[in-house]
Amino acid sequence: MFGHGTPIPMTSSPCGPLKGEAHVPGDKSISHRSLIFGAMAVGETKISGLLEGEDVLDTGKAMAAFGAEVINHGEGNWSVHGVGVGGFAEPDTVIDCGNSGTGVRLIMGAMATSDITVTFTGDASLNGRPMARVTDPIALFGATSVGRSGGRLPMTIVGAKDPVPVRYEVPMPSAQVKSAVLLAGLNAPGQTVVIEKEATRDHTERMLAGFGAEISVAETDEGRVITLTGQPELKPQTIVVPRDPSSAAFPVCAAIITPGSDVLVPNIGLNPTRAGLFYALQAMNADLTFENEREEGGEPVADLRARFSPNLKGAEIDPAGAASMIDEYPVLSVVAAFAEGDTVMRGVKELRVKESDRIDAMAKGLRANGVEVDEGDDWWIVKGLGHGNVPGGAICESFLDHRIAMSFMVMGMATQQPVSVDDGGPIATSFPIFEPLMHGLGAKITRT
Ligand code: S3P
Repeated sequence: MFGHGTPIPMTSSPCGPLKGEAHVPGDKSISHRSLIFGAMAVGETKISGLLEGEDVLDTGKAMAAFGAEVINHGEGNWSVHGVGVGGFAEPDTVIDCGNSGTGVRLIMGAMATSDITVTFTGDASLNGRPMARVTDPIALFGATSVGRSGGRLPMTIVGAKDPVPVRYEVPMPSAQVKSAVLLAGLNAPGQTVVIEKEATRDHTERMLAGFGAEISVAETDEGRVITLTGQPELKPQTIVVPRDPSSAAFPVCAAIITPGSDVLVPNIGLNPTRAGLFYALQAMNADLTFENEREEGGEPVADLRARFSPNLKGAEIDPAGAASMIDEYPVLSVVAAFAEGDTVMRGVKELRVKESDRIDAMAKGLRANGVEVDEGDDWWIVKGLGHGNVPGGAICESFLDHRIAMSFMVMGMATQQPVSVDDGGPIATSFPIFEPLMHGLGAKITRT
């Protein structure tokens, strides 16, 4: 598959205890938004702790193509000199969002109500993912689009010349779609209303309020009703990007399954729309504690301490929490393999349209490594073998999906035989320091 250059096969071998502190990179969702919202503000937004993974860097390049000045000051410090709402210039070239669904979908929304025409593309994974979920609502604002069959990239969007505000009920639980509609609403006159039946990550709502937009959220019988007043002047911000709970998931789960481990993962945001995995792990008997609980920038934050947990038990994961841990199901399924009994995951249809079909990708790799998995359209069950009993020994396909690759690297730390992936290259999209960070804790990951 085209996407990340020459494949980088990797092998993770059973290792001794993982010990120490894991300083994971900045939050991917907040990093994308910092660059995009900064580009839509008037003046200079300063960002520290930006995730410098490929996905976010592609969004930074895109914002520069739309006319914002995006400057790297080193060590995660960036600035964005924004062009204001409605100030996007028409890029001279195709916008390549690489592997990033968040990047492309948010940018499509942000440009949809400007009088410009933009062509988007991505890698083989992104070019296979559904975009109608964004082109349908932006059409209501007056934007038009032409893409490949099935609403896939490459795709050209002609922004609305005279946008109208919309009222839109998001048909699937998706923060990307919600955010795309809100960003389109920024440059439409009047009030745009977005309704979501299930709460999804709320970084867009929180951050747009921080940038000075008039935005309110009401919890109603219909769901969360978000009302945004269009055509504000967004004020530049100073943003400290918190560390990513979705990246923290990997050292946390690795410590839980690897004998003797004791790992501290400091400064992790526990925003309720993101922290579902940690509560699910606790329900499975994982030795995971929240230390030094505090509030930072209006968000709950804690240091996570994860220790080897020899008595993991399978659990029925509450589908109501699915959106709050949607990116963490792959690594949760690895922990489930080391638990006694079945772990049942329902209401997770969205996993089929991520960077890969994540149920299929994990089921294939788990089975190849000796773990039984049952699956249906929107559910799957991992039949745990208990600690010490997971065979391993297989090479898994990562399907251009960073989280699949990292999940199998975590698995290999506690299986009887090493576990390999055909291509660990995609890890650089979200967690470029994954290998050195894991080595620092005591993992044995080699490029093979
Ligand atoms: C994201 C939303 C989620 C998540 C993705 C990041 C975001 O996608 O899987 O990694 O930053 O808004 P969906 O909106 O498709 O659920």
